[in-house]
Amino acid sequence: MPTFDDIWTDKMYTGIAHIDEHHKKLVRLLLAVHAEQQKGGSHERLREILAELVSYTKYHFVAEERLMLEIKYPGLPDQRQAHQDFSAELNERFLSLSIKDERLPGELFEFLRGWYADHILKHDLDIGVFMRNQALLSGHS
Ligand SMILES: [Fe+2]
Ligand SMILES: [Fe+2]
Repeated sequence: MPTFDDIWTDKMYTGIAHIDEHHKKLVRLLLAVHAEQQKGGSHERLREILAELVSYTKYHFVAEERLMLEIKYPGLPDQRQAHQDFSAELNERFLSLSIKDERLPGELFEFLRGWYADHILKHDLDIGVFMRNQALLSGHS
């Protein structure tokens, strides 16, 4: 069973406090999806947790895009595109789960974990770098 530290590493800190909190909450929701899948709980419960993950992801993307707009971040278009592509894929996967399905597809957790980790490392960290370079943020994490 993966733990928080199997997914989260210190390299994933952007240094932007509220964004880092969002990312950690997303990791915790991911772990909840995995735990529910493993224990073979009701399909309904699994869908509930996944629905929470989907809605929190949307909330986070909105907050992150608002921040990028405020700081005039040049990478905003790329970020927005990445967020939109992922949201579309997430919706599609979520909606394609029939209520009658016994289990969610096994690769779902790996897909989600891979996407979040990759996106934070390749895209979100740069927002923190930009803010530090513009002296909009202190610290070096
Ligand atoms: Fe992002
Ligand atoms: Fe993010």
